Amino acid sequence: MKNFAGKICFVTGGASGAGLGQAKLFAKNGMKVAIADVREDALENAVKEIVAYAGCAEADVLPLKVDLTNRAEYTAAADKVEETFGGPPHLLIQTAGVNSFGPVEASTFDDFDWVVGVCFNHVVNGLLIFVPRMIKAYANKEEFHVATTASMGGLMAGAGTGPYSAAKAGVINLMYSYADALKKYGGGATVLCPGNINSNIGNAEKYRPAHLKNTGYHVTEGTMMHLRSVHAIGIDPVELAEILKEAIENGRILALPDHNPESWKDQLRGLNETIENYTLTKAERDAIQAEKMKAMKEMMEKMKAEGKEVPMMGWAVPEGGEAFGQARKDLDWIKR
Ligand code: NAI
Repeated sequence: MKNFAGKICFVTGGASGAGLGQAKLFAKNGMKVAIADVREDALENAVKEIVAYAGCAEADVLPLKVDLTNRAEYTAAADKVEETFGGPPHLLIQTAGVNSFGPVEASTFDDFDWVVGVCFNHVVNGLLIFVPRMIKAYANKEEFHVATTASMGGLMAGAGTGPYSAAKAGVINLMYSYADALKKYGGGATVLCPGNINSNIGNAEKYRPAHLKNTGYHVTEGTMMHLRSVHAIGIDPVELAEILKEAIENGRILALPDHNPESWKDQLRGLNETIENYTLTKAERDAIQAEKMKAMKEMMEKMKAEGKEVPMMGWAVPEGGEAFGQARKDLDWIKR
């Protein structure tokens, strides 16, 4: 998709962080933008920010208060967009998400239901609700595109990111299916995989729905403060939106911000190599791994010798904070 002006964009999670950055950027590029979010107060503020940033008319920004995990609510929001802007979106960007971290073996059903519900199921809801409408309205007549904000977490998992990484991996995989499927209608698909965004996601636990509150993780004001401090050094949302836009314009499925730390890029290269090298024997794989570990050690020693900052394997807890990613304290089977 190359031309955005005058067309319709629908951004989920558009009241904050990455989604708000996308709404601002595509509004500035002349699109009418609907922003769907569960937080009403944040929506009101977002409309003002979008209008100020894009210099567009307030009538070209449609705020929709909706719990995107609720299919009836999501469908009603889709109807409202058609009614207001005269058609379904040409560009659907599904960015709403929440995170919650802790040992995967401590996870509860509520942890999975909440994180997978928002990060994966809402994406499915949007695709099923909008894609048929987009095909009917635009197939081989007008450009249209579906995009999703997944995460680097979907490309590589860790012991403390189980539900989140699984949901994001599912989204990435699904977008490959849509990219392939939409070709014959003249549509495209892109999945954005950021590493760290300067956003409000560190506060997500505050609006975890009441019926999904039974977490297996240790969550306090202090752990949220730590998480916020990590995200505070993330990429700027509008800068991230530019990366997504460039990928959409060039018809690329994967949008990977360069902003991701070198250590993550190395992990990704390692994962690719593992897949590429799956026919090798264990001894051959071990030899490759040993070579890489040696090179990494040498690189870190060299950086130390040159007085450069050696990349941290974790993030420091700020004063007054508490480390996030731990199990709830009463779970007695967890090794700490
Ligand atoms: P954010 O918290 O600033 O924005 C997410 C928005 O989603 C919020 O406004 C929230 O109200 C909305 N939302 C949550 N549940 C919802 C629901 N059920 N229905 C409707 N709206 C809902 O967070 P951020 O970081 O901008 O997140 C955007 C996306 O980026 C998420 O999918 C997240 O997983 C992803 N991401 C974030 C990273 C980060 O470092 N912050 C890194 C990689 C990916």
